Amino acid sequence: MDTVESTNNYAAKLYNSGVIDQETVIMADNQTNGRGQREKTWHSDPYQNLTFSAILPSDKVKFNSTVRLVFVVSLSLSRFLKKLELESSLKWPNDIYVNGKKLAGILIENNYSGSSVNYSIIGIGLNVNQKEFELINATSLSNELSKSYNLRELLLSLLNDMNKSLNELSSLPFDEVVKQYNDLLFGKGEQLQFREKLTDEIFTGEIKGVNEEGDIFILTEGKEKAFKNGEVELIGK
Ligand code: BTN
Repeated sequence: MDTVESTNNYAAKLYNSGVIDQETVIMADNQTNGRGQREKTWHSDPYQNLTFSAILPSDKVKFNSTVRLVFVVSLSLSRFLKKLELESSLKWPNDIYVNGKKLAGILIENNYSGSSVNYSIIGIGLNVNQKEFELINATSLSNELSKSYNLRELLLSLLNDMNKSLNELSSLPFDEVVKQYNDLLFGKGEQLQFREKLTDEIFTGEIKGVNEEGDIFILTEGKEKAFKNGEVELIGK
């Protein structure tokens, strides 16, 4: 479709109104209110990038938690990028980085009835042909590989590959998925600066890895501390 507020919102509306009941992908050339994690805005120049959402009804959701889905979706995206000859790393909790810059973001939203998932919406923003970014620390396929892409074709091959990777990854024991995620974890083993959200405290630490619950472990002042999504932010070197 051409323009929509947010493909994640639109996908949820379609599903809730009964128009669709199976795996569906909504792609927009332009989002007027693209959303990122924690109420942030996802900026993407119109007609330049991939912004899309896939709806997975509960019977297709093999990993019944957002954390698990984020891991497998991140790994699938990373594998796809590798096929394009781009090495990526996974920045906890849900970004894909290339050469130290953000290339893609993932926003997964689950719809629950009680504790069971009705459907998951996997929203992905992948910078493709855009050259300049408001956010200095962002990049695109085009900037990294000096090529431009046909967005429709790229989306089709990405969906095809992701589908295969998701099936394969979902047949693995989850600790193996976590291991693969940790192997690609951005910043692992480096001394980096973090901000603890609750206290606003800035500290230096070393990322050790993530666990199956999606918590990250940071070694600081000789102790490993665990943080949940949203509790800590990586602010630099
Ligand atoms: C993040 O980096 O915080 C996640 C960004 C996710 C952006 C995608 S673009 C398609 C889908 N629709 C949205 O409104 N957001 C996601």
